[in-house]
Amino acid sequence: MSDQYAVIGNPIGHTKSPLIHVLFAQETGQDLTYVPIEGPVEPEHAFAETVRQFIAAGGKGMNVTAPFKLQAFAMSDERSERATLAGAVNAMKFEDGRIIAENFDGVGLVRDIEENLHQPMADKRVLILGAGGAVRGALLPFIAARPGELVVANRDVEKAKALVNQVMAGDFLRACEYPELESMGQFDLVVNATSASLTGQLPPVPSSVFSPTGSAYELAYGKGLTPFLRLARNAGVQGVADGVGMLVEQAAEAFAWWRRIRPQTRAVIDRLTVPLA
Ligand code: ATR
Repeated sequence: MSDQYAVIGNPIGHTKSPLIHVLFAQETGQDLTYVPIEGPVEPEHAFAETVRQFIAAGGKGMNVTAPFKLQAFAMSDERSERATLAGAVNAMKFEDGRIIAENFDGVGLVRDIEENLHQPMADKRVLILGAGGAVRGALLPFIAARPGELVVANRDVEKAKALVNQVMAGDFLRACEYPELESMGQFDLVVNATSASLTGQLPPVPSSVFSPTGSAYELAYGKGLTPFLRLARNAGVQGVADGVGMLVEQAAEAFAWWRRIRPQTRAVIDRLTVPLA
């Protein structure tokens, strides 16, 4: 029988993960199945039971999406450092009766920015908007990319400060409120990791942070030019991107972790890309 993998979330109808992993399997010649599972939201223990049933049926690994990333973290036996900082898990491997947990969202994001968009972060001024789960997942991989300055801006600045204090990476990393950005000049890269775009909103970021020669990255994908990307475009930024590349790259990380072979991502990204207009 083929090795079995799945993505679990609720709702799950929108997921692109099965398509991505089937394309990776074809390209690398791996024999596997990958199915979407709509996980139960209630009662609380039902999520873990569903995962355990999948393992009992021979499942080898699972991706986890909203709203289960914290529950997946809680039920894991081993967690990577980046999953621990995020407090959230987006990929699990089932091995010798143990659940090993990872969070590839941040590495996928950094890889998309550096490899696909050709924007190395080393020594650059980088601004991340938000301090929720997405930023917690991204912070360690961003720090590993050695930016010259890394600023985390959030409406609730205490949340951003707590996160920055937790990693204690050095003076290049700091938290601030949105109004402070007015006097901080231009950044080479501005990443919108807030959930504002999901509701068509714009984080209160001043357009002075954008550099025409820099880039703007929106974590949400398939939403065209969001208010954030529009603001960046209007400020003259040429390099604007949404999160489709991150989605494919985090999937590639999970695939490589499970199968010990790294798939090519370019053709899959091209296939899933919805033009920004
Ligand atoms: P996720 O796990 O997707 O990151 P989350 O943990 O709920 O979701 O975090 C959402 C983030 O988006 C938070 O940083 C939130 O800011 P606050 O912590 O100040 O609430 C941010 N956010 C949501 N809507 C926003 C908006 N309209 N403008 C600015 N930030 C917003």
